[in-house]
Amino acid sequence: MAWDRIRKTPQDRAGACLDDYDGCVTSFSWTQARALLDGLPKDGLNISYEAVDRHVRAGRGGKLALRWIGRDDEIRDFSYADLAAQTNRFANVLKRFGVSKGDRVYSLLGRSPELYVAALGALKNGSVFSPLFSAFGPEPIKARMAIGGARVLITSEAFYLRKVEPWRRELDSLEVVLLTECSANPPAGTEDLGAAMAAASDAFETVWTAPEDMALLHFTSGTTGRPKGAVHVHDAVVAHHVTGRYALDLHADDIFWCTADPGWITGTSYGIVSPLTNAATMIVDQAEFDAERWYRILQDQKVTVWYTAPTAIRMLMKLGADIPKRFDLSSLRLIASVGEPLNPEGVAWGMEAFGKPIHDNWWQTETGGIMISNFRSMDVKPGSMGRPLPGITAGIVERRNGEICEITKPMAMGELALRPGWPSMMRAYLHEEERYRKCFAGGWYLTGDLAMRDGEGYYWFVGRSDDVIKSAGHLIGPFEVESALMEHPAVAEVGVIGLPDPAAGEMVKAYVALKSGIEASEALRKELLGHARKRLGPAVAPKDIAFRQNLPKTRSGKIMRRLLKARELGLPEGDISTLESEER
Ligand code: PRX
Repeated sequence: MAWDRIRKTPQDRAGACLDDYDGCVTSFSWTQARALLDGLPKDGLNISYEAVDRHVRAGRGGKLALRWIGRDDEIRDFSYADLAAQTNRFANVLKRFGVSKGDRVYSLLGRSPELYVAALGALKNGSVFSPLFSAFGPEPIKARMAIGGARVLITSEAFYLRKVEPWRRELDSLEVVLLTECSANPPAGTEDLGAAMAAASDAFETVWTAPEDMALLHFTSGTTGRPKGAVHVHDAVVAHHVTGRYALDLHADDIFWCTADPGWITGTSYGIVSPLTNAATMIVDQAEFDAERWYRILQDQKVTVWYTAPTAIRMLMKLGADIPKRFDLSSLRLIASVGEPLNPEGVAWGMEAFGKPIHDNWWQTETGGIMISNFRSMDVKPGSMGRPLPGITAGIVERRNGEICEITKPMAMGELALRPGWPSMMRAYLHEEERYRKCFAGGWYLTGDLAMRDGEGYYWFVGRSDDVIKSAGHLIGPFEVESALMEHPAVAEVGVIGLPDPAAGEMVKAYVALKSGIEASEALRKELLGHARKRLGPAVAPKDIAFRQNLPKTRSGKIMRRLLKARELGLPEGDISTLESEER
């Protein structure tokens, strides 16, 4: 069933943290938001203190902070007091090795408890934490550690031997390597983290940090060039905290599951910091995606708020809406998704499978936290990313005669831009002043995304600014075309690009992966072309469709249209360090 709009009940509105959101909350200020946190003496601020120790001081130490579920279903629980003690130990370990304020502490770990302890312990020590995705190979790891000047690495012995040891000598800055899952004789130049933790005291005074001190370094990829290290400061915690309340509706009695890996920023901002500052209980699953397992976790852990990604939703969709119906998911009250376009189909599927819409929201590594969101209190328009959060001013802009101008006409396409000034905005691309500066013009931060805003202030994603197609004078958003094809029951995934065309400038071509069990055929190709033409009209519909077994995706699940295009045109593939294995 298609939905234009999913209306919220008075109960939704009344229960939401943002119960009176009408698109123009006038009472909000970042100063007020900051006052929701404790801070450190003399105007200091530390993310880890706000996430953990603050709650212990306030008598909430016994509350369950983190429930970790191992691959083999082992459960390990950490109360806020346990987390405080463990992170204190870790900070003492760092201190013992002479690691101090501003030093870069990297992790290369799966979703193990040590990752969470290391992140919060490093921040507590005033050090800068940089999580690397554990599925990276040696090259992307090395590049990111070199850019950040890594002094410390926490990783497993197996990862170390395979992915770091071969090139370690080339990185002079790397002095301390702490290993998990370590054998009796750790390799030369490494230490057993477990032994070091056991020997360390569980008392530690949080190192004083200023709000503008660097806290987190997250890497992101551009179209060209080296990975960019987006610098985030301790002040970001103010945004992590309030965006968790507003966009994810986090209350202290929530059981929250963010399925993102902390190797990507969603898994840190919302997979560590935000649920903890909001005193919720967070679930961490060590295992990889598995539909039945996920539904079981939602059921058994009585998850109330679930933050996931469109790729996961598509994978669940592929298996049908009957499976979730076999589970008791009655605790679930809010589902949100981020990171890539959520097709209206996905939202409708949420209604079918869970009786609830999926709340899309938008942000970037650079913005540090959610900027645009479908709030619990707000009607959901499937296909829209929602509206800007309080404290965030968004706009649609275009360049006219070299100047950046705002476009106010509803549903006119332009670049999505934000007025800088929120606490979790990146402060730099490390060592890349020029690249950083290029992100700003006319008093706006330019996101590189193309979007539209409707008359009610809802934002609609169109594509990255470099992906949009111009065909016979029409600007065509690949997302729009993909959404139409996704509606077809045979389609699992779609990537749409523009190919050079002598007559029309560009011609729209779609690459389609079919649902399992469906055979590609000429008849189906024609049917899909007809379906798209019917839905979109001849000017927008793809002129050609090719079937693919799998589409190239980043490890975070985005379809790499750029790569489809490069392959089609026989051009260099460029930076494919984030390419997901294509066997899957
Ligand atoms: O193009 C937008 C897309 O993801 C980009 C940001 O990617 P990354 O820095 O990896 O973000 C991590 C935190 C989410 C954006 O520029 N994107 C993000 N959210 C959405 C989205 N595209 C469409 N709809 C979204 N909700």
